[in-house]
Amino acid sequence: MNETIELLRKHRSIRRYKDTDVPEEHLREIIVTAQAAPTSSNIQAYSVVAVRDPEKRRKFAELAGNQQQVAETPVFLVWCADLNKIRSAVRLHEDTELSQNVELFLLATIDAALAAQNATVAAESLGYGTVYIGGIRNNPQAATDLLELPPLVYPVFGLCVGVPAQDPDIRPRLPIGAVYHRETYSEYGLEDEIRAYDETMSHYYATRKGGGKGGEDETKWSKEMWRRFDGKRQRDHMHDFLHRRGFELK
Ligand SMILES: Cc1cc2nc3c(=O)[nH]c(=O)nc-3n(C[C@H](O)[C@H](O)[C@H](O)COP(=O)(O)O)c2cc1C
Repeated sequence: MNETIELLRKHRSIRRYKDTDVPEEHLREIIVTAQAAPTSSNIQAYSVVAVRDPEKRRKFAELAGNQQQVAETPVFLVWCADLNKIRSAVRLHEDTELSQNVELFLLATIDAALAAQNATVAAESLGYGTVYIGGIRNNPQAATDLLELPPLVYPVFGLCVGVPAQDPDIRPRLPIGAVYHRETYSEYGLEDEIRAYDETMSHYYATRKGGGKGGEDETKWSKEMWRRFDGKRQRDHMHDFLHRRGFELK
């Protein structure tokens, strides 16, 4: 296993941090590495806002559903899909509105995610721990207001970056057969793979450092998916919110 693969496989989200800063040089190094990520047709349709101010982080923690790690992290990076800069580039040539559709929304969101993941790997390589915070989409308008985002920009997720004050076990993933197909998608054996993963996750929760969680049935991955998605739509406000931000999802 080479060093890069070893680093990637060691990943686990970190939600407790030492009271140690992330120096601006490190942050710039992390962001420049994020910028090296591939980007659809080089459009680079994302921005990132670094939030260090404790009061602002406290507000983010609250709007994300009282996620304490956001208040504790020394720096909270908010990754945004950004069509504002594309519109600015277009307007250098013609005073026109951007032609938009769902595809352009996807490009910007994918660009933000790829850059953020590069940042995550860069931060981990420097010894920091990270955790994504999708919880900011519980209250996307409040997050937008805190960052004073212009139209055509929306916050996709946050990322806490700090020196780890915990050493959690690596969270197991699905068996490779549940994600890897050759030539065509095969559903053969999928239920068995999911059952096997249910066992793995129950064992993980029963034995992990820092304490277990729930009874055996409650810790099955399939049960967790059922609880999350059975008849429930998550963050239904996102469609209208994106529309108000100026994203056209047609
Ligand atoms: C887009 C995205 C949003 C996430 N949002 C949150 C969040 O709001 N709070 C949190 O504690 N973890 C969040 N996570 C972290 C996941 O829970 C975590 O990555 C997953 O359970 C796998 O665990 P691991 O990262 O330790 O391997 C998020 C991860 C992603 C990719």
